[in-house]
Amino acid sequence: MAEQIKNNVFYVGAKDPDRELFDELIPLPDGTTYNSYLVKGSEKVALIDTVDPSKVDELWAHLEQLNVNNIDYIIANHAEQDHSGSIPQVLEKFPRAVVVTNEKCKGMLIDLLHIADDKFLVVEDGSSLYLGDKNLEFIIAPWVHWPETMFTYLKEDKILFTCDYLGSHFSFENLYVEDQEATYRNAKRYYAEIMMPFANLAKKHLDKVQGLDIEIIAPSHGQVYKDYGFILDAYKDWTSDGVKNEVVLAYVSMHGSTKEMVDYFKSALEAKKVKVKTFNLTHTDTGELAMALVDAATVVLATPTVLSGPHPAAVYAAYLVKALRPKTRYLGLIGSYGWGGKTVEVISDLVSTLKAEILEPVIVKGLPDQQALAGLDKLAAGIAEKHSQLD
Ligand code: FEO
Repeated sequence: MAEQIKNNVFYVGAKDPDRELFDELIPLPDGTTYNSYLVKGSEKVALIDTVDPSKVDELWAHLEQLNVNNIDYIIANHAEQDHSGSIPQVLEKFPRAVVVTNEKCKGMLIDLLHIADDKFLVVEDGSSLYLGDKNLEFIIAPWVHWPETMFTYLKEDKILFTCDYLGSHFSFENLYVEDQEATYRNAKRYYAEIMMPFANLAKKHLDKVQGLDIEIIAPSHGQVYKDYGFILDAYKDWTSDGVKNEVVLAYVSMHGSTKEMVDYFKSALEAKKVKVKTFNLTHTDTGELAMALVDAATVVLATPTVLSGPHPAAVYAAYLVKALRPKTRYLGLIGSYGWGGKTVEVISDLVSTLKAEILEPVIVKGLPDQQALAGLDKLAAGIAEKHSQLD
């Protein structure tokens, strides 16, 4: 059902409760939505973002329900196809419509969707678009999470459309946030997977949001915020430099030696009052792992040596950590080997671009002996000491 948000402003998006993966990478335990919004001004009609092309029929049904027989402007806040992918079909159905976006996004839409150059109206930061009794203003907000992203502000109704920013993957029944705790969790998972690599800009854009007179924040995934203070506070926390007295201990073990080290190390850290979150890399939901990376002061990878290097699951995890760029201050490596290999070199190389301090690895031959356990005690004591000095 299309749903009125304010007078002549409607949700016309699509739900995708059964989608299991995003970008063929990110698990979606609660599906997702592609929120599209229709703004009917007294003179012009604008559609803010479209939907994933697989769900365009839902968009058509909503527009039909609202008797929409003309669209003047399609606002593209972001070029990624889950929001832009139906623009060609909307242009086909409403041939007089013009795509309104910034220069960078225009270029990307031409590359990704082959939209004709003359179908665009290019706007800049601070530009406004007259719809009659309503005006849209554009706020360029790059890198949340592509270089071309922007927000659209409907001044008269005090609604900010943020596309991916502040969003969450959640196929809702009710359009508005009701359970802040659940939304916090969904939004944190989303932040960790999508926004964390660009935390500095995600933080900077908070100032832009806070400088506006807003009643409603309407992202393009998940529920719409009326009482939005909690999500801004959450972003403030996640994008801050602060880390928690937590260790993410991500492991894979083939025959139990590395697992024995993991169990011992976990107990040693907990005995020193360090919170430990363990993830078995062959079973773990990468979303859960990403969420834990938002806060943890330290990440420790545990891997056996196989085929002369780290287990591929550990390589995947190291690459994920590198790509998500968490604010983690310390990185550790533990594990067991049979006869040799380059586990330390491969993992160290993978994470070398991170700013974190690399701790002395504890790599042992075979089952851990007393000396190996003493090495784990020492590593745990070192981490606890460093965490005691966290600001
Ligand atoms: Fe929801 Fe970056 O697309």
